[in-house]
Amino acid sequence: MKLDIAVLAGDGIGPEVTAQAVKVLKAIAMEFNHVFNFKTALVGACAIDKTGTPLPEDTISICENADAILFGAIGHTKYNNDTLATVRPEQGLLGLRKTFDLHTNIRPVIAYDDLLHKSSLKVKQIKGTDILIYRELTSGIYFGDKTFSDDKATDICTYTRAEIERVAHKAFKAAQSRKGKLTLVDKANVLASSRLWRKVVLELATQYPDVALNCIYIDNAAMELIINPKQFDVILTENMFGDILSEEASVIVGSIGLLASASIGDKHVMFEPIHGAYTKAANKGIANPIASILSAAMLLDHFGLVEEAALLRAGVDKSLQLHITTPDLNTKYDHITTNKVGDFIEDFINNPNETNLNFTNIHLGQSTII
Ligand code: IPM
Ligand code: MN
Repeated sequence: MKLDIAVLAGDGIGPEVTAQAVKVLKAIAMEFNHVFNFKTALVGACAIDKTGTPLPEDTISICENADAILFGAIGHTKYNNDTLATVRPEQGLLGLRKTFDLHTNIRPVIAYDDLLHKSSLKVKQIKGTDILIYRELTSGIYFGDKTFSDDKATDICTYTRAEIERVAHKAFKAAQSRKGKLTLVDKANVLASSRLWRKVVLELATQYPDVALNCIYIDNAAMELIINPKQFDVILTENMFGDILSEEASVIVGSIGLLASASIGDKHVMFEPIHGAYTKAANKGIANPIASILSAAMLLDHFGLVEEAALLRAGVDKSLQLHITTPDLNTKYDHITTNKVGDFIEDFINNPNETNLNFTNIHLGQSTII
C-alpha cells in the first residue's frame, strides 16, 4: 500500500515521540513492502515562532493532500498564564480538527497486565480494563462563540442533532463489535445541550437493539471510571467531557504517555497521542513514545493493515514486558531513553522472534558475552 502521511510533530516532546512513531512505521513499510511517504509541516507554538500563525497555509495544504496526519503535541508553558494572548498554539490543533472535520475521536484505554502495579489504583480494580472512549471533537464548548473582557467571559456550548448523530452511530457500531455496551456520559440534569444528546442517543438506540445503552452524568462517570472501570465498554460523550474523562482514564493504565487516539472525519484522518507538549521534559530523552507509537498502530488499523498493526503492538507489549520503557514507567532500569524505546520496537518489527536475553542486553547497553 502507498500512503502519504503528513507529520506534524508540533511542540515540546512532540518531535521526539513522533520521530519514534515514524521510525516504527518505516520498519513496518520495509517489512511488509509498503510505501509510506512522510511530509513534515509546522503546527503550534513552533509555527507561531516561525510564521506568526499556529496553523500555516502550507501545513493545511500538506494535510489536505495526505492520506493521514500524524500529530505530535502542542502548547508551550509561556502561554499558560498569558491570558491576553489571542494567537495561541492550541488554535493549531483545534484548527486542524475543524478544518478537516475530524468529528470522532477514539481513545482506547487498556490496562496492560505488565503495568498494573504502576497505577495509583488497586490492581484488582483495574485488571482487565478495556474501554473505548468516543469523544465528539469538532463542536460543543470548545468551538462555540466566546467573549472575553476584564470582568465577564462567555463560552457557548452548542450541539446540533447531526453532530450528535454522526459520532453516536460510530460509537454504537463500535459497541456492536465489542461487548455490546454503550455508556452515554452527559449532564442532562443541568445542560440543555446534554438533554439533546440524551434525546438523540436514546432515539438512535432503537436502531441498535443488540447494544445495551446506559446514560450517566459526568460527575458520576468521573467517580465510576476510577472505582470500577471494568463496567465500561464503549463510552460516548461530548467534546469537553471526553477530554477530561480520557485524561482521568490515563491513571488506570499507569501513564498518560501510553494513551493513543484516532480522530476520524468523513474525508480526513489524524492520529494523535492524548498527552500534551510537556515542555519541561522536552529534549531530555525521557518522554514516553508509546502513545505516539500506538497512534501509528491505529493509523495502520484504519487502512486495514491489521497484521502490521498487530506486529507493532506486539513490539510495544514486548518492550513493556522487558522493561524497555522510559522513566515514567520504569522502576528497574534508569537509562532507557525515548529513542531507545523506538529502536527496540523497530528491531522487534525487523526480528520478532529474536527477543532473547542477548537482544535485551544489547538494548540495555550491557555485554552479551556471558
Ligand atoms: C487533547 C488536548 C487538547 C484538547 C488541547 C491541547 C487543546 O488536551 O487532545 O486532549 O483539549 O482537546
Ligand atoms: Mn486533553
